[in-house]
Amino acid sequence: MWNPQQYLQFQQERDRPFFDLLAQVQGQPKTVADLGCGTGHLTAALAERWPGADVVGLDSSPEMLSKAAAYATKNLTFQQADLREWQPAAPLDMLFSNAALQWVGDHAQLIPRLAGLVAAGGTFAFQVPGNFDAPSHTLLAEVLARPRWHTLQAEARDKASLGAFGPAEYVALLAPLGFSVNAWETTYLHLLPRPANGGNAVLEWVKGTALRPVLAQLNDSDAAEFLAEYRAELARAYPAQAYGTPFPFRRVFVVAQRSGQP
Ligand SMILES: C[S@@+](CC[C@H](N)C(=O)[O-])C[C@H]1O[C@@H](n2cnc3c(N)ncnc32)[C@H](O)[C@@H]1O
Repeated sequence: MWNPQQYLQFQQERDRPFFDLLAQVQGQPKTVADLGCGTGHLTAALAERWPGADVVGLDSSPEMLSKAAAYATKNLTFQQADLREWQPAAPLDMLFSNAALQWVGDHAQLIPRLAGLVAAGGTFAFQVPGNFDAPSHTLLAEVLARPRWHTLQAEARDKASLGAFGPAEYVALLAPLGFSVNAWETTYLHLLPRPANGGNAVLEWVKGTALRPVLAQLNDSDAAEFLAEYRAELARAYPAQAYGTPFPFRRVFVVAQRSGQP
């Protein structure tokens, strides 16, 4: 279950790559889908950028979509859909996705499938984290491997294969399908402010994402013990400074344009 409030705690840091991706996108699409739209505030930014377009935000989470509903207009709608199976009625001019496709599964299959839903001359633009070998993930895996916790299922483990996908791998998937591809990576150095609850800033960040599937399996007292173990590791890897907690975060960006006339 997604928790919109926890996710948006670091909204400024999480939104920045969306706008860095959008800055590289050209054209005037008439039909746009935001894949894994979350709380919808960024889907609204897509509708603002292309006021003449029909924009749809797609997400599988009812919690996220209940926030998104507030942004709906005549040209901006939201739908519950699982991206593993979603099939639009006709190919779209723009598939856009920020920080969502890493949750959806095997990219060697997913990316070509989604690319097949882009109209001639259209664009497939997405950003995914590229930080699966960062301490926030490797320390989580380390704590999960301890005897006390090793029976827990963690989506974080399944994502290890995504570590193999960087800009070059996405180009290699999309260029042979007739796309011209602009792919790059950026490592942001976030300086996370001290959380309002006084806790560990990186822990609060991860609670909004990779920790969700872990915590969903634990009762309150086990969750508190798990968090204490993980927090101790994070505090060593990401020491808090007076000016904030430095948190390097690599992200991978792809803007792929399909050949042909729109
Ligand atoms: C990290 S949030 C990003 C939300 C939004 N794009 C943003 O940048 O604020 C990832 C979103 O992907 C959605 N998601 C994960 N797996 C999905 C799937 N299989 N189908 C549709 N949405 C999915 C989640 O529900 C969540 O809202």
